[in-house]
Amino acid sequence: PRLPSGLPWVGQGLEYRKDPLGFFLRYADRGAVVRTRFVGTPIYLLNSSEAIEHVLVKNFRNYPKDAFQKRALEAVVGQGLFTSHGDVWMRRRRMMQPAFHKNLLAAHGGVAVKAANQWLASRREGEAFDAYPEMMALTLDVVAGTLFGANLSAQARELGRAMEAVMLHAQFLFDTPIPLPAWVPTPGQRRFKAALRSLHAVVDEVVERRRRQGGPGDDLLGLLLEAQAEDGEPLTDAQLRDECLTLMIAGHETTAAALALSLWLLARHPEAEATLRRELATVLGGREPTVADLPSLPYCEQVVKESLRLYPPAWGMSRVAETDDRMDGVHVPAGTVVAWSQWALHRDARHFPEPEAFRPERWADGLERRIPRFAYCPFGGGPRLCIGAGSALMVIRLVLATVLQRFHFEAAPGPAPEVLPAITLRPKSGIPLTPRAV
Ligand code: HEM
Repeated sequence: PRLPSGLPWVGQGLEYRKDPLGFFLRYADRGAVVRTRFVGTPIYLLNSSEAIEHVLVKNFRNYPKDAFQKRALEAVVGQGLFTSHGDVWMRRRRMMQPAFHKNLLAAHGGVAVKAANQWLASRREGEAFDAYPEMMALTLDVVAGTLFGANLSAQARELGRAMEAVMLHAQFLFDTPIPLPAWVPTPGQRRFKAALRSLHAVVDEVVERRRRQGGPGDDLLGLLLEAQAEDGEPLTDAQLRDECLTLMIAGHETTAAALALSLWLLARHPEAEATLRRELATVLGGREPTVADLPSLPYCEQVVKESLRLYPPAWGMSRVAETDDRMDGVHVPAGTVVAWSQWALHRDARHFPEPEAFRPERWADGLERRIPRFAYCPFGGGPRLCIGAGSALMVIRLVLATVLQRFHFEAAPGPAPEVLPAITLRPKSGIPLTPRAV
């Protein structure tokens, strides 16, 4: 493959920093494996489904999470499901997987609809709102209910601020090639530690309350508490708290961004919105949706798939090669970081003609089965597929089905919202939407 240009040693790091999404797009057609370098670290960009499958599925034991990700995320959630590798990861995944079993998800559908109804109750026709913060508040209710069986509305403001501060710091750690040690009391570190302490306090309180309440675990926390009490290698209290925090953080922002941008896309595509509304009217006739209705709402599913294609909340992924490897004829030395971007993969015109167009219909007739396995991967894949994928897809569809039966949302004309490729992809500035009765 043709090598990209760049400053010696510094390589393409600056080019990436200026515009991470454009960076992956620019190198998307330079071969299956493109060799770049970021300040001393070799980073190979993967542009083919086969190369990604090699890393995530076929040779996945050789590819733990890389130092960039670990540095940023371990500071927040320690060494748990998201950050660990090998046997430690496998044990955690087995422990937590039952909480995401289909039967339990069905029970949690009601939490999403209730949260959507509560949110609707606070909306007034004609009063514009900013979609992302509103959806953040809504998904916090969902996360608290489904994961912890708790209501965190009273702490929502404090939690929102603390999560924002913690993620800002994680982003800083991700972006800084050689950060100062965590004990140096810079203003940033102090703000981060204070925010983390307040997150810990909220989670500790929830755990304590749930412990006192006891009973069978049909929420995630109940299951984790049962697992903690078992013999073998039980979780310490700190590990339990970190896993709760992992799920809160992983599920909250991502689902909120997906919902906010789906609402905007529907507002700006009246035909798609009308088709969805017709489907909702036929199947639900004005009543609340349940999980059992979802298979009868195929267009709703297509809308969500298309929204996650254009605006994948997890916009990029990476791993590091533990030992020497080979991919698509390219030697991958141990220590090489391999990275790919859903933003770029999902804009490949070979699989998604007119890739910038919002066309939910393209997903009809099983498009997913006709394209290569990792051409579309909003939830990653292989053994480390997002543990919350089923839950998120259910929540997004139920919330859309609930709110769109009540309101049509009007978006201002103009270009699409700018997005910020932070740890997750999120709107850069406000997305004002105005509710109109239907
Ligand atoms: C992993 C995306 C919602 C919990 C992942 C990964 C992606 C992803 C791409 C793989 C990361 C990697 O392997 O490097 C998303 C998107 C979501 C979403 C786009 C919403 C639209 C959720 C929810 C939860 C969750 C609702 C929990 C309630 C996790 C966890 C992992 C993960 C714990 C790590 C799994 C492991 O490594 O075994 N997510 N996620 N996510 N996600 Fe999600």
